[in-house]
Amino acid sequence: MIGILDSGVGGLSVLREVRSLLPQQSITYLGDTAWCPYGNKSHPQIIKRTFALCEYLITQGAELIVLACNSATIVAIEALRAHYPVPFIGMEPGIKPAVQVTQSGVIGVLATEASLSGDKFHRLVATHALDIRVITQPCPKFVHLVEQGTLSGPQVTHAIHEYTSAMLKSGADTLILGCSHYPFLRPALEKITPPHIHFIDTGAAIARHIADHRLTSDKSPETHILTTGDVQQFSKLTSQLTPELQATFSPLSLP
Ligand code: DGL
Repeated sequence: MIGILDSGVGGLSVLREVRSLLPQQSITYLGDTAWCPYGNKSHPQIIKRTFALCEYLITQGAELIVLACNSATIVAIEALRAHYPVPFIGMEPGIKPAVQVTQSGVIGVLATEASLSGDKFHRLVATHALDIRVITQPCPKFVHLVEQGTLSGPQVTHAIHEYTSAMLKSGADTLILGCSHYPFLRPALEKITPPHIHFIDTGAAIARHIADHRLTSDKSPETHILTTGDVQQFSKLTSQLTPELQATFSPLSLP
């Protein structure tokens, strides 16, 4: 079984890709809604919580774990890899692809506060974007809007202007969607920002990395979604955000 985790529904953008690329694998997706958002939590809090969730997935038989959450990846993946024998695949803001695409030499990174303050993020920028101007912007309202299923309308428009105006004025032509919740706002972002802006989302690339690992095939592969929050709400949001996904839903209570 492949375990996928996120602070809420954001990682469904990754689950969708993994499901269509690996139809033979059972997948357990864990949305930690009771604890959402991760973006404003301290690094030690995120590490402790991520360990508890991964521990649970491993006891359920996860052969590989996908952190479909940039914040958890930036903050905890190195410690998780050092501690557990299962492979971990993480998700981080796509600095490298953005540097390849930008023509203005200015890129904007939309991500959580936790990701933007992480050493791993700073190393990414230092490695790939030395000659590039990188403007960062935490977007907590985006996570809240997606968790409510609000993907368009005045609140979304207002938040997009608030978070992107300054970087666009400074000449950014490439915006990184550095949080797994943000791709669900991509249609609104594309509508509201100028047409020459490129958007970078690393969800599909993550799914391709999993295909490199040898995993046990399942005769009747399942997609099982667990949430630490309200199951009905999660199931409703899943139908709205990823209507093509067929899944079963259960509550999960973790201390
Ligand atoms: N979706 C997560 C990420 O990719 C975290 C969002 C949040 O809980 O703040 O960073």
